[in-house]
Amino acid sequence: MDLLNLIKENAKKNLQRIVLPESFEERTLKAADIILKEKLAKIILIGNPEKINNEAVKLGLTHIVEATVIDHENNPKEEEYAELMVELRKSKGLTKEDAKKLLRDPLYLATVMIKNGDADGEVAGADNATGDVLRPAFQYVKTLPGISVVSGAFLMFLKDKNFGEDGLMVFADCAVHPNPTAQELAEIAVSTAKTTKAIARIEPKVAMLSFSTKGSAKHEMVDKVRAATELAQKMAPELKIDGELQADAAIIDAIGKKKAPGSEIAGNANVLVFPTLETGNIAYKLVERLAHAQAVGPILQGMAAPINDLSRGCSVSDIVNLVAITANQAAEK
Ligand code: ACO
Repeated sequence: MDLLNLIKENAKKNLQRIVLPESFEERTLKAADIILKEKLAKIILIGNPEKINNEAVKLGLTHIVEATVIDHENNPKEEEYAELMVELRKSKGLTKEDAKKLLRDPLYLATVMIKNGDADGEVAGADNATGDVLRPAFQYVKTLPGISVVSGAFLMFLKDKNFGEDGLMVFADCAVHPNPTAQELAEIAVSTAKTTKAIARIEPKVAMLSFSTKGSAKHEMVDKVRAATELAQKMAPELKIDGELQADAAIIDAIGKKKAPGSEIAGNANVLVFPTLETGNIAYKLVERLAHAQAVGPILQGMAAPINDLSRGCSVSDIVNLVAITANQAAEK
């Protein structure tokens, strides 16, 4: 069975409550219908019940009736949620009135539902930019203990099965944090190794990428990756993490042996951690387009509950896949 089917089968075993705040969006409704039909998750839609119903009828979607619908304009839990928000953001001076205004925004409501234990995960972004999906999540769901930074990993299904684990590699951070410090980069490496185990279901071999291999170049950017490698190794001594490595030394056996002799990772890496968002984002898009890889994600990691962001160009099946991944993350938690 391929990995995505395995992830879907796993989601079916322990149904999680996934909230979709963009119910006005056609692809989201179609995906919700498929998810409910295939029993991949329990779906919570945020929106006007009548509008959702009318749209479902228009689109011929027969399973949407099984979704729980929460009307953000008329939510019986508004008072309770506003109090929770004020408590969580009191250091920022949030008033109850402001909290109630924010709760009229489905993206805020979704994250507060998760924080209050009324949903297990969220998928959004078919109609909203990454920052708009992430900001409420950062503010109300926050990061896991011991992790200060959220990052985004991609499962890269490569055509060339010689790379990674039978063609599967994990790239990060490709989606969230523009310029991590050494400590943050170390956290990203550890989070990515955990995602690799939990979602890609392979034993992570993590390469911390740079334009230098083991001191071949001297620069403060190289120093950052080297420091991050040491910190990550200390944070999670059980994980296989090595750096700094150039991309060719990380993935090509002969080059790895030559440039980083004795490294367990060089030439065998299946997880690539990029030094900045710029490099990670450019790299995954180039591999996707030039090498015709399938890129699944970003899978957000380091958040206290699973919240995942779609590309605005996503397809219905991208949404279904990301909901199944989110459900796996929630069940894992
Ligand atoms: N992890 C955890 N918390 C974070 C992170 C992070 N990576 N970044 C910001 N925060 C927190 C801050 O600490 C702050 O918390 P507080 O309000 O409790 O003090 C809150 O989030 C807001 O912080 P800001 O600095 O105001 O964050 P801002 O909203 O300006 O930016 C954002 C955050 C939107 C994620 C920004 O870093 C960003 O735009 N990143 C790039 C996203 C992107 O465009 N990716 C590429 C496209 S995606 C793709 O191609 C697949």
